Amino acid sequence: MNRLTTCAIASNISMNDKRPFQSVGIIGAGTMGSGIAQVCAQSGYPVRVYDVNPALLEHARHQIEQRLQTLVTKDKLTATQRSDILNRIRWTEDLRSMTVDLIVEAVVERLDVKQHLLTELEAINEGKVVLTTNTSSIPVTQIAALLRNPANLAGLHFFNPAPVMKLVEIISGAATQPEWVEQLRLFVTSLGKVAVVAKESPGFIVNRVARPFYTEAIQLLEEGVADAETIDALMKAAGFKMGPFELIDLIGVDVNLAVTKSIYQGFHQQARFRPSRTQQQLVDAGHLGRKTGKGFYGYPEAK
Ligand SMILES: NC(=O)c1ccc[n+]([C@@H]2O[C@H](COP(=O)([O-])OP(=O)(O)OC[C@H]3O[C@@H](n4cnc5c(N)ncnc54)[C@H](O)[C@@H]3O)[C@@H](O)[C@H]2O)c1
Repeated sequence: MNRLTTCAIASNISMNDKRPFQSVGIIGAGTMGSGIAQVCAQSGYPVRVYDVNPALLEHARHQIEQRLQTLVTKDKLTATQRSDILNRIRWTEDLRSMTVDLIVEAVVERLDVKQHLLTELEAINEGKVVLTTNTSSIPVTQIAALLRNPANLAGLHFFNPAPVMKLVEIISGAATQPEWVEQLRLFVTSLGKVAVVAKESPGFIVNRVARPFYTEAIQLLEEGVADAETIDALMKAAGFKMGPFELIDLIGVDVNLAVTKSIYQGFHQQARFRPSRTQQQLVDAGHLGRKTGKGFYGYPEAK
């Protein structure tokens, strides 16, 4: 057993009494929802995960089982810890069973879907819940607009892959109650992650700064300056961990495009944020990256 891992798990669990929330509900079992559920369960939180699609719930459960098994194989987790973590996660297609202290919404990057679900969750929990959204780009204030109490919603933006990436942006909307921001900061710390509090702005901090990384790379490809492999290889040689095309495939071509579109609208269609036809075409064709087995690259093992 890796000593650091043991200490991290022990220190997280010993924080129990200092925890601002006793139970967590994750809405959406996709790339981000499954990762966030794993992170919370690994830190000792009882977690419920809801999705409309039972096949995706099953897929997410399988992925978490596999990721934890890899940690056991690498001697970073014991088999008992693995099964304790898995036992903390409950999977459901019934939204009404999502009565928890904290909701983390991680469904498709669409304002109407997020608003609808969060409004329902506010009612199901009779207002006694802190609501958060993992949106990458939609203004928290806009998502909160239909809530009875918009003060109860904040942005809680994990990065992909959630079990690995340390940073979490906490976004305060126009009405967000400052007390919740503080509680969320404690929550993020209890997950062993680093919280950065930011004011609302299209794309917040990281996604805004990262936009040209994707859009300029696609433009280079469209102009025929170099192919995706070459651009990715050069960016890695320049010090980036991943190239723009492999990163878009990891994020999800659809998710990345939705974020670009939303930032483009958020900045009143400034040309520097304009989405590309090439990316739209991939989405139209269902080539969404790793999750569908094809994006800018092919992933035969995913199918
Ligand atoms: N992928 C990334 O790298 C990344 C990083 C940070 C934040 N985000 C944000 O996280 C959110 C989710 O992204 P993702 O990559 O996990 O997407 P995804 O496509 O992998 O998963 C979305 C999930 O939402 C579910 N869903 C759709 N409509 C639903 C509904 N009405 N009720 C319940 N579930 C529903 C789908 O079944 C699916 O499981 C988005 O807001 C995205 O912008 C994504």
